This record gives sequence, structure tokens and C-alpha cells, in this order.
Amino acid sequence: MAALVDDALEAVASCGTLAELEEARVKLLGKKGLVTGIFKGLAVLPREEKPAVGQIGNLLRGLVEERLQDRARELSELEETSLIDEGALDVSLPGRRSRLGHRHLLASVADEITSIFVSLGYEIVSGPEVEFDYYNFEALNQPAHHPARSLHDTLYVRRENLERESPEDVLLRTHTSPVQVRVMESRKPPLYIVSPGKAYRKDEMDATHSAMFHQVEGFAVGRDINMGHLKGTLEVFVRKLFGTDRKVRFRPHFFPFTEPSAEVDISCYVCDGAGCGLCKGSGWLEILGSGMIDPNVFGYVGYDPEEYTGFAFGVGIERVAMLKYGIDDIRVFFENDARFLRQF
Ligand code: DAH
Repeated sequence: MAALVDDALEAVASCGTLAELEEARVKLLGKKGLVTGIFKGLAVLPREEKPAVGQIGNLLRGLVEERLQDRARELSELEETSLIDEGALDVSLPGRRSRLGHRHLLASVADEITSIFVSLGYEIVSGPEVEFDYYNFEALNQPAHHPARSLHDTLYVRRENLERESPEDVLLRTHTSPVQVRVMESRKPPLYIVSPGKAYRKDEMDATHSAMFHQVEGFAVGRDINMGHLKGTLEVFVRKLFGTDRKVRFRPHFFPFTEPSAEVDISCYVCDGAGCGLCKGSGWLEILGSGMIDPNVFGYVGYDPEEYTGFAFGVGIERVAMLKYGIDDIRVFFENDARFLRQF
């Protein structure tokens, strides 16, 4: 037995290259190897001899594995040194730098937007992406079968009754506005809130549509908050985001949960209002929807509209990122092509 062990260890020690060592490993530990042979032989041994021989087999296997590892380390060091001696390995060459990852452009634009509002004293709140119809539509002044609902192609998770819409239906939120209702329902003014997050619509993917996209919702509720505050706030926001010479234009619009409502345009930063390809000749770029919170919404959350007023706005994060960085296809945000992601 001792001779067997000596032979095995000698077989390892005498290997001069990593390739020879691999051959030795197969001969000793491989399927048809020496050590494996010991275990196979157990089957034909008398019962009382099995434990002792099994133990020897285990010891031998452990020892051989250890020596194989040690010899492998020695040999690779030797091979490296000889490569250096031959000049095949230039250790003075700079190493290959591994790239550090970084935040996704959409995440940094979302941060940029929310931190502008945080600097104005707003608080960040988030809400669920899987939402009840009640928060997504009903309490935002769009009861069942309200015509404005059809503007949002809703993805449903669970419907109470396929024949009619119900506040208990569960859906993927079609905008971040339901956060307004959730916050107001559980807290009292004054409120200054921003809420970034995902929204979903049953849209075919193309250069300007994605079934999943991001918005930042913002709103303020208190005593005597008026449209002037909304304008002032959004002007500060737009100038911080797109530069101090941007002009802001409020264009009358309709949203069910605000009255009056406005879409906000900024003067085109490429042509400064003269008209160009980006703004399609109009001199203006639409960037968000906003308005004074409709008193009906206050009714749903138990606020007295005689006591409180508020404004709200919703910004598309992809839209802002596309405008700010001259990106003309929304799909690039989600394809995870490193060549795109790396640019930002
Ligand atoms: N929720 C709207 C949308 O997704 C955007 C919006 C418009 C949000 C006006 C608001 C608002 O808070 O006041 O189209």
C-alpha cells in the first residue's frame, strides 16, 4: 500500500508541465484512474475489509488532490517566468482597464428632475405600479365610462366584471397621478410632493411609444395656492433643467383631474424659437401637463375645496431625456445596448 501512495505522489511531483500534470490527474483521479479503481474494488472485498480500504482510498484521494494543486501552482509560476524571460509577456504594458458601470440615463434624468424639486422643499414619495382603478381613474375625477379613460390604453391585472368598469378593478397604473390621491387620502396639507416612477399603457412599441415608461408626478396643496405659484414653480424647474434662457408657455388643455389645465411648452433650445427640425417649425417643445387640482378630486380625499387649493403636474422622463440629449427613438432606453448606455 505504501508503495502505491509513493508512486502516486511521485507521478505528480515528476510532472514538468501543466499538460503533463493534467495527464497525471486523469491517471490518478479520472474515471479509470488509480484512486477510482480502489473504490471500484470495494464491491468485491469481504465486508469486514471494506471500511479500512475505503478509508485508505479517501486519504489517498485527499493527498493526491492537495499535491496536484501545489504542483499546478508551482508550474504556472514557472511557465510565467519563462514567458517573461522569452519576452513573450511584457509585464510593463498597462493592464486592460475594466469598465465601471454607471446609472442608466433615465435614472439620472429622474434624479435630476426630483432633486430640483427637493431643492424647492418637496418631498419624494412613491406609489404602487399595480393599482386599483379607484386611484388611477375614479378618484382622479374619471368615474366608470368617463370618455377620457379611453385615452389611456389600460393594461388590466384583474377585472371585476368585463361588461363594466369598476373602482375595484386592478390595473397597471397608466400614469403616476394616482400617487396624488394616495398621499392626500392619508395626510393633511400643506403638501409638497414629487413622485417618480413607472407607468404602463397598452401601446405598440415604436420610436415614440413604449408600453412601459416613466413619469415624475408633482403636486402642492395648501391654503391660497394659485396658478401663479404653478407658473413660477415650473419656470424655475424648466430653467434649471434646460438652461436659464428658456421661455415657458402655458397652453390651455384638458385633464380630468385639473381645472384649469395647461400643457407647458419651452422655447426650443436648438433654434431659440425661430423654428427648426426639432420643434417642427413651431419654436416650442411640449414638456409636461399641469393644472390646478380639480375640487372634485379634493372631494374624494375628504379635503374642503373652500379651504385648500393645489396645483399638479406630470412630466414624462423619457420625453425630457430625449429632448435634453437629442435622442429620437424611445426604444434605445430599453434595448440595453452598451454602446448607447456608455455615452451618458
Ligand atoms: N397624468 C397625466 C398623463 O399621464 C399627466 C398630468 C397632467 C399629470 C396634468 C398631472 C397634471 O398631475 O396636473 O397624461
